[in-house]
Amino acid sequence: TATGMRVGIHDLAFATTHQVLDLRTLAEHQGIDVNKYYIGIGQTEMSVPCADEDIVTMGAEAAAQIVARLRAEQQAEDGQAFDGIRTLLFATESGVDQSKSAGVFVHSLLGLGEHCRVVELKQACYSATAALQFALGIVARDESEKVLVIASDVARYALDSSGEPTQGAAAVAFLVTADPALIEIEPVSGLHTDDIDDFWRPNHLSTALVDGKYSLAAYLRALEGAWTEYRSRGGVDFEAIDRFCYHQPFTKMAVKAHDKLSALVGSPLDKDQRRAQVAASLELNRRTGNSYTASIYVGLLSLLERDDADLAGRRIGFFSYGSGSVSEFFTGVVRPGYRDVLRTAADERALDDRTAIDHARYRALHEGIDAAQGSDYETAAETPGPFRFAGVSAQVRRYARTA
Ligand code: HMG
Repeated sequence: TATGMRVGIHDLAFATTHQVLDLRTLAEHQGIDVNKYYIGIGQTEMSVPCADEDIVTMGAEAAAQIVARLRAEQQAEDGQAFDGIRTLLFATESGVDQSKSAGVFVHSLLGLGEHCRVVELKQACYSATAALQFALGIVARDESEKVLVIASDVARYALDSSGEPTQGAAAVAFLVTADPALIEIEPVSGLHTDDIDDFWRPNHLSTALVDGKYSLAAYLRALEGAWTEYRSRGGVDFEAIDRFCYHQPFTKMAVKAHDKLSALVGSPLDKDQRRAQVAASLELNRRTGNSYTASIYVGLLSLLERDDADLAGRRIGFFSYGSGSVSEFFTGVVRPGYRDVLRTAADERALDDRTAIDHARYRALHEGIDAAQGSDYETAAETPGPFRFAGVSAQVRRYARTA
């Protein structure tokens, strides 16, 4: 910033749904080799929402952890449980209303103060990165500001479509502040926008349409475009970046992307060295499935939690891609003491504690979302999470705390 203050991500929290489908179940139903999923696309499981879970309940569950910590810190300091959040940016492409921001529901569930701006952002999987950049701008202008960003998505494709194994769901919340405890975001970035039809969801559909093979090629072309601009604007060279965190529609995509970027820059690193630069970032996503806007930041959390190396002072390169398409390459430097900020055991538990469902239940839930459209209804009380989507009455979505 103008005063030389660092800005970046101070806290980062995770949530997912409370049910899971093992991709073996899907492969068995389809009569195909499960290794197409376990190895070929690098996915073992996908999170599936309960009837009373959606982007709001996941987003609130992730953000509640950050808000609780902020309030506890403030309580210890001056006796008042104050969070000080004046901006909440909610990034999603599976919005629950065409007008009202999903963030307003979360604002209410978390009891945030009324002096807060709340807005939803959309551009496929990219918009959480737009939210991050906007948040950095707000903090750079006034270093006392704290911006809460939530990225939450349920990735849904039609049953029996080729995209089906790349569904999933998760949310992250992160707090953007001055003098951040987790990662300082550096100012240079490279952008790339291209009006293409690789993946989209028309207003009348609840599931996405995709040209699968074309979308992979488009992602890699965008990576080249964003990287090229990043370098031309003074971004560091490839060798100065220690770890890489890519948008992960499925984890194998990040591996493909990293191989592509390594080849582009003529990196002498061998296959194992290249894998080591991305491996830890894949572990959480392998178990949640695609979480669209949240995916790259689930990847960041996975990297920080699962990489054995001490990453303090190391530089991470980020490639954020949203179909349609908008993408950005940027970097961040991990802060000393970052491990003290993480909730590693709780995040692992969130994955381990999901209830495994069978194929019939998965299909019934998938079909149930479309059946419910347009009418008032109550949802079954299923989620063991702290917030639930109670249903629709008088055409209004109702949310509640469960405890
Ligand atoms: P597919 O045609 O079902 O699969 O589509 P495939 O035949 O390409 O096989 C997948 C991989 O598994 C291949 O590996 C096979 O060789 C391998 P590759 O050659 O690519 O390295 N394989 C096996 N490996 C081991 N043992 C076996 C075996 N069998 C096959 N027995 C596809 C796959 C991903 C295209 C499909 O699932 C799909 O369309 N998914 C949705 C689209 C998508 O995720 N696109 C990613 C780029 S676009 C993006 O990231 C944006 C997005 O997140 C949305 C947004 O921005 O909002 C999607």
